[in-house]
Amino acid sequence: MCDMHIGSFGLKRKVNEREKERKVKEMDSNGVLMCLLLSAPIIYFLYRQWKREREGQLLPPSAGLELPVIGHMHLMGPLLHHTFHSFSLKHGPLFSVRFGSVPCVVASSPHIAKQLLQTNELAFNCRIETTAVKRLTYEASLAFAPYGEYWRFIKKLSMNQLLGSRSIQGFQHLRAKETRDFLGLLTRQARAHQPVNVTEELLKLTNNVISRMMLGEAEEAREVVRGVTQIFGEFNVSDFIWIFKKLDLQGFGKRIEDLFLKFDTLVERVISKREEMRRNPNPTPQTLNKDYQVRDFLDILLDCVQDHTSDVKINRVHIKALIMDFLTAGTDTTAISTEWALVELMKNPLLLEKAREEIDKVVGKKKVVEECDCQNMPFLQAIVKETFRLHPPVPLVSRRCVADCSVENYVIPENTLLFVNVWSMGRNPNYWDNPLEFRPERFLNINIGEGDSTGLIDVRGQHFQLLPFGSGRRMCPGINLAMQLVPALLAAIIQCFDFHVLDSNGEVLKGNNLVIDVTERPGLTAPRAQDLRCIPIERSNNNQILGF
Ligand code: HEM
Repeated sequence: MCDMHIGSFGLKRKVNEREKERKVKEMDSNGVLMCLLLSAPIIYFLYRQWKREREGQLLPPSAGLELPVIGHMHLMGPLLHHTFHSFSLKHGPLFSVRFGSVPCVVASSPHIAKQLLQTNELAFNCRIETTAVKRLTYEASLAFAPYGEYWRFIKKLSMNQLLGSRSIQGFQHLRAKETRDFLGLLTRQARAHQPVNVTEELLKLTNNVISRMMLGEAEEAREVVRGVTQIFGEFNVSDFIWIFKKLDLQGFGKRIEDLFLKFDTLVERVISKREEMRRNPNPTPQTLNKDYQVRDFLDILLDCVQDHTSDVKINRVHIKALIMDFLTAGTDTTAISTEWALVELMKNPLLLEKAREEIDKVVGKKKVVEECDCQNMPFLQAIVKETFRLHPPVPLVSRRCVADCSVENYVIPENTLLFVNVWSMGRNPNYWDNPLEFRPERFLNINIGEGDSTGLIDVRGQHFQLLPFGSGRRMCPGINLAMQLVPALLAAIIQCFDFHVLDSNGEVLKGNNLVIDVTERPGLTAPRAQDLRCIPIERSNNNQILGF
């Protein structure tokens, strides 16, 4: 019995041991499989590097540890241009990063930027298309359209019609009216000793200007605009990591749909109203509203819809896309520039005084400064340039490579994303003396013989150390409008007002506490993170100047 028991026990033990062995083997083979799976991306990556190097295709240096699946995403901070700037100090002016499965290169020196945006212009004439971009631009915008027939048609139309000199001139009274309304608000708040959210009001103003130029009426699109520029600058892992392609881990889908719905409802209403007016042309918008000295963009685009002879057919979706394009591209950027310039002057009272002296000298003390006066104000123009140097509203110009090309002995393969770090180039000590100081005077130096010709540098895409509007064919078509509006608006504000700046608790910043926060908010554009809240103070001759 005992023997039998021992025998069956021995048998059981043997069976258990075999079972254990089988399990250990299974675990071993699972482990090997796991290891193979995990190391596959690394092996693939090393193989690709090896293959490229064997073929003599050297990629720009990598910006640190690249992990399987996510690439360099783990190294990115919230403000991409800051992260890229610190990488460039370590890895040089051209380096590569990988966002998930998407290869990118980052250029941080004017010399390299010129080779990419000018010498190899045709290879970098397209842009990235993320899920947010596709949905919110109806896949038909100008800013994100691939370089081709449609892009050429719309760019020409925009440059000749909406943003051409005739149109900008024709809408000048409209900008003057919006500026005057803004100054009126500041006056009322000053007299009531009440604060103004300058950030919000500047956005309202630029939104009204662009909206009236486009649609003939001021549409309240500020919220959508800020939402769109923010989401365009954020990383949606579904766009970059192929295994997450179908997942929406960060909740982007809902945000995109909310923005889309808000904008689509708004723009549908405006287009339908205009179509109705065009069907019953008596009275026409032109006769109804004195603001219509020049036809607005919506009218021009609706004419294009009816033009069946045109090679490029324009439909309602294109119109919506273009309205989205211009509102988002034009509103935030111009408001941000004006606010940064104002903040820099508040931080530098001596420069503020010098700017006011120039204004007084050119326009006297009896009228408010106008756009045409600003051409005669070199110091004001220098302030605007210096603002663009230190605070470019679009800190990274981004493009997509559509054909392999080589730069500085490196190869940039097709489908690589390019980021030109405009923010970093404005701070490059090889190109700028004391680059972190706000010194507009640098742009008044035109002593070519003595070596300093910084004064000759302009913002029109030919001087690669200063590229706030980008460069080449895809450069910003709104540059002329922006360069009229921003200096004149800034000049009018400082001509008429001083400001008590408030902190986040609503307390006035004084003396040593007068430190204005210059932290930026993440996104496609780089506005200040905190809204600028101030109590305006009327300057002594305000009554005379404004007549309020
Ligand atoms: C201070 C104001 C502005 C700044 C700093 C600015 C900056 C820029 C930059 C950096 C680009 C990319 C250029 C490139 O890739 O080389 C761009 C493109 C664009 N901007 Fe502006 N912009 C401003 C105002 C405006 C305004 C007022 C409008 C129109 C009302 C506008 C419409 C556009 C459009 C449509 C594009 C896309 C052009 C294309 O892809 O062909 N921008 N802007």
